[in-house]
Amino acid sequence: MNNLQLIRVGVLSALLSCTCAGNTSAAPISGTAGTDTAPAAASSVPTLIFNGTNYTDEVLSLNGTPVAFRAYRNIPYVSNPKDIAHQRISIFIPAAYLTGGTVNGYTAATAPIFMPNGVGGYMPGEIEEPQEKSRMSGAPNAALTALSRGLVVVAPAIRGRTNTDAQGVYVGKAPALIVDYKAAVRYLRYNAARLPAGNTERIISNGTSAGGALSALLGATGNSSDYTAALAEIGAAGARDDIFAASCYCPITNLEHADMAYEWIFSGINEYHQGAPASTPNAENQTASEVSNRPANAPTETSSAAPMTTDQIAASARLKKDFPRYLNSLRLKDAAGNVMQLGSDGTGTFAEYIKGLYRTSAQYAVDNNASLDGADWFTVQNGCVTDVDLAAYARWATRLKATPAFDKFDLSSGENDEFGTETNRPRHFTKFSRKYDSTHGALAPAADIRMLNPLNYIGANGVRVAPHFRIRHGAKDRDTALPIPAVLALRLANAGTDVDFAVPWGYGHAGDYDLDELFAWIDRICK
Ligand code: DHB
Repeated sequence: MNNLQLIRVGVLSALLSCTCAGNTSAAPISGTAGTDTAPAAASSVPTLIFNGTNYTDEVLSLNGTPVAFRAYRNIPYVSNPKDIAHQRISIFIPAAYLTGGTVNGYTAATAPIFMPNGVGGYMPGEIEEPQEKSRMSGAPNAALTALSRGLVVVAPAIRGRTNTDAQGVYVGKAPALIVDYKAAVRYLRYNAARLPAGNTERIISNGTSAGGALSALLGATGNSSDYTAALAEIGAAGARDDIFAASCYCPITNLEHADMAYEWIFSGINEYHQGAPASTPNAENQTASEVSNRPANAPTETSSAAPMTTDQIAASARLKKDFPRYLNSLRLKDAAGNVMQLGSDGTGTFAEYIKGLYRTSAQYAVDNNASLDGADWFTVQNGCVTDVDLAAYARWATRLKATPAFDKFDLSSGENDEFGTETNRPRHFTKFSRKYDSTHGALAPAADIRMLNPLNYIGANGVRVAPHFRIRHGAKDRDTALPIPAVLALRLANAGTDVDFAVPWGYGHAGDYDLDELFAWIDRICK
């Protein structure tokens, strides 16, 4: 894992010299502190009281070393579930804490709580069980690694866009996923004194792709009143839902602006590699994802390219043109406090910032004799990467998605489905795509769109943003374009949040690939 450590240091040092995303100063927490609002609620929500009598004691092997833990499985975390199968959590406690022991310097009282979500493709998320061999990498998964390092693991199942209730009503469309994740946090806080171990003031979320977006959303929206009604409807516990830290791999976030950002990077590439829509959770899609080593439920990918239509190419140019206006409206600041700009010709300080992220990633590859994977988009002089050509980068990475990448004119994307109705009609989430949809499909309610975008909450009144974020976007990831996680990282840093943001070389759309580093980061922020 040494290589990955080098990536982090390399990217961070670049950030420190040219941007403020690597700001390491602890953030003053903004907004209301939020207190447990649970009344003497034991009688009003009896099903939410943690019952510590149902458990199994288990041992798994992490690369040959036994990891002993106690598992409390499948506990409902709301009292009025819409989909009981997906509103449950499992709690895993390192065995040492049950006898007063310590692990990695933590005790039962101080152990951070690692809270991975299994969401991908905005589909239902299943409980992340500790595993000796994970499906993707064949190595121990994040949950088992967390236990070995003394973290309590709390893994919720979460509703997704295909879930229905007994009447066939679709109950998992936006904003269900974030409402459920928050409800799981509230359940933990509500039961803080009843849990055998775990510090509910040190909850760390983790997720990849749509799950990375969800992790960012949980981190950015702590205690926001926007979600109160939806939380009440499912019978969530009365407690705070802010968290301590969010770990976000390749977050598919800021969906209303992701189409523009995508074209700002990929316009000019007129062929794409996305396969047939993966709209249903069937085994076929899973297999396709596994074959191409992509996260489960991510859109499928083909090795052969398909041409975009003339309409798509025209839409690409329009979306690309719209991105600078959006970017400039954010007034993002660099490390020196200067507002970053983007000109209509594609140049400007924000463009330099994006090039700097790729430059640092490429520098890592050069320094470590990593495979350059045919990369021809950066200039090296005397061992130093001196320049990046973004147009050449896009040719090298190739375009995964046809224009628009997310809000499809024909409503065929997973995101259109995510914003769909209770009767499963997909909807738009941008005015742009609604305008160019010849069938004039409906736009999702503004409140639902708002509740899925963390940028709406950073710095907002009454919101407690997690003081620590870790964001990763692989150098060859083109499920969303780099400006999307970059804007998130900058917004957070500008609001005083501690953000560790990097673009690791050698990765596309993936997560949990640097667990040693992830857990070292957790130790750093918690100890
Ligand atoms: C995921 C990937 C995507 O490209 C997307 O549009 C939505 C979700 C995912 O892997 O979760």
